[in-house]
Amino acid sequence: MNFNEELKEKTRYIEGVLDAYLPKEEGYQKTVIEAMNYSVLAGGKRLRPMLMAETYKMFGGEGKIVEPFMAAMEMIHNYSLVHDDLPAMDNDEYRRGRKTTHAVYGEGMAVLAGDGLLNYAFETACLAFEMAENYEKYKQTAYALSILSKKAGIYGMIGGQCADIEAEDSQESVTKELLLFIHEHKTAALIQSAMMIGAILAGADKKQVDELEKCAYNIGVAFQIQDDILDVTGSIEVLGKPIGSDEKNNKITYVTMHGVEKSKEKVAEMSGEAIAILKSFPKRNLFLEKLAEQLIYREK
Ligand code: IPE
Ligand code: IPE
Ligand code: MG
Ligand code: MG
Ligand code: MG
Repeated sequence: MNFNEELKEKTRYIEGVLDAYLPKEEGYQKTVIEAMNYSVLAGGKRLRPMLMAETYKMFGGEGKIVEPFMAAMEMIHNYSLVHDDLPAMDNDEYRRGRKTTHAVYGEGMAVLAGDGLLNYAFETACLAFEMAENYEKYKQTAYALSILSKKAGIYGMIGGQCADIEAEDSQESVTKELLLFIHEHKTAALIQSAMMIGAILAGADKKQVDELEKCAYNIGVAFQIQDDILDVTGSIEVLGKPIGSDEKNNKITYVTMHGVEKSKEKVAEMSGEAIAILKSFPKRNLFLEKLAEQLIYREK
């Protein structure tokens, strides 16, 4: 199987996991659940659960205990997108080639769908405790939960989104350090949690988890720089979301600070560093290395 076939098959597997864990659209709360599922089932690259599953494999993980965490990860990612697209934030009308959640369900329901996804993510991840066969697995599950909560929160994604909003309209005062803080937190943090959790559930040791945190930092920051490049050079047809969103919101990005060419070099450099860390582990996962490499050239 070549890389693209493997990628398709793994994406299908993740879609199946999501299907199994998403809530049923019933009861008086049916509308919010529909809005949650609308957002998650719209497609997307499923990068974070894929990184989690592949890191799990790289450290010898077997069995399904990682699956509730894969679903939880994608729920948190989707909640961040539903809120990010709201008029009060980036005010975008399209995502993954269709109308954003607030454009279909209204703003109030989109706020609740985001809240619902965030909370349901933890309800879902906690199901891993029921799959834990021994004390060691219990401990790993608890550790994984603590990483998920921290990396999604004020010391992770939410912290980055806070700085991102405040940096709007104040481009002159945004330093390189602040821009890196924004990228590290709003984007790399969730990618770090994906890879760290995969490793933790597979029984990796502390030093290995620390190394993966660095690896995913590089993947995550490069991923956001590439996102910012595509916001300038891409098209809505390929991306599925509007281009020019950053300019419209007066965002400072790696591209506005350093230009497209330097930004592309930075993506390649940071991805290279991530791949070097991946190669340093005792057992290699060639698919994961290739995935990290492909992200440099991604067009969506
Ligand atoms: C979009 O993430 C938000 C960023 C962190 C740049 P993705 O590019 O992974 O979005 P989907 O899930 O594939 O749509
Ligand atoms: C979003 O960054 C990061 C999130 C935490 C959602 P962007 O605002 O650049 O993501 P897109 O371009 O809307 O996907
Ligand atoms: Mg944003
Ligand atoms: Mg946005
Ligand atoms: Mg963007």
